[in-house]
Amino acid sequence: MRVFVVGATGAIGTRLVPQLIKHGHQVIGTYRSPGNAGRVRALGAEPVAMDLLDPRAVRVAILEAEPEAIVHQATALAGVRFGRSLDRSFGPTNRLRTEGTDALLAAAREAGTRRFVAQSFASYRYAREGGPVKTEDDPLDPDPPAMARETNAAMRHLDQAVTNAGGIALRYGGFYGAAGDGLVQPVRKRQFPVIGQGGGISSFVHLDDAAAATVLALDRDGPSLYNIVDDEPAPMSQWLPALAAALGARPPRRVPLWLARLIAGQGMVMMADGSRGASNAKAKRELGWTLSYPSWRQGFPAAYAQARP
Ligand SMILES: NC(=O)c1ccc[n+]([C@@H]2O[C@H](COP(=O)([O-])OP(=O)(O)OC[C@H]3O[C@@H](n4cnc5c(N)ncnc54)[C@H](OP(=O)(O)O)[C@@H]3O)[C@@H](O)[C@H]2O)c1
Repeated sequence: MRVFVVGATGAIGTRLVPQLIKHGHQVIGTYRSPGNAGRVRALGAEPVAMDLLDPRAVRVAILEAEPEAIVHQATALAGVRFGRSLDRSFGPTNRLRTEGTDALLAAAREAGTRRFVAQSFASYRYAREGGPVKTEDDPLDPDPPAMARETNAAMRHLDQAVTNAGGIALRYGGFYGAAGDGLVQPVRKRQFPVIGQGGGISSFVHLDDAAAATVLALDRDGPSLYNIVDDEPAPMSQWLPALAAALGARPPRRVPLWLARLIAGQGMVMMADGSRGASNAKAKRELGWTLSYPSWRQGFPAAYAQARP
């Protein structure tokens, strides 16, 4: 198929493009930062400069490329500082997930593009009630922390707009598998503590496994939602010390809930204390997805062996 990958130069895009080509697809890859055309070409794709927040440019790029499938992997998270407000940090990404998705879907309709797959997120989104691990049929959190409301609404918009159009939204777990992963420096510097009992559940996925699931999703008709996460949703009290060990760092500090609420805010406390994980059963069953790293227990040491001091 002719596959149009939006965000070919990102953390997932750079893993996805070579896997698509290996699978026999012809890839057109977009970038936004000037100078990134060479990176796209080196991945084996035909580069196209495109700002996803410019609907006219999106329309022209899609109509010219005439793709049979579009994969939306654009976010604006490189170099972002994460403070108390997730909505502030995610503001530009939220626009890519709302306005950007809408622009791509409109262009896809006009171009007659058959398949549409887009990046969504699984961790910290499911309702904080009942069991620790949630399927795609379980309800989303109806009352996310105030500092993450717009971010949650943007992901909800993407899920709904994509599936309403017959596409597939992939709710990925927390990505890891690159030296520059967001948690590496804070964990190494012991700036990322276990909060309270650290009972909140996170779901992770290695970037190579996330890319493999995306390739498989392109072979299926939508509409559908899939959690693309590993086999072992786990509490912070388990995965965070394991991540520190994999990085050769000292064990994480421990901070009581009240202090974390004061310093880091309610959103961080929710992730550490109340969040639920996600089940990958549907993705394995329907996509035939098998993971190279079924758990972060093997994945963290494999990913960071080179990064140890
Ligand atoms: N599920 C998760 O845990 C998750 C999801 C996403 C990202 N992250 C993490 O966030 C960090 C940064 O992510 P990243 O390396 O993928 O970088 P990023 O800055 O989020 O960029 C991702 C892609 O989107 C493109 N892009 C950005 N703004 C755009 C726009 N206005 N129009 C069109 N395309 C646009 C970028 O193009 P250019 O490169 O040309 O600017 C790039 O190809 C990584 O550590 C990553 O693992 C985690």
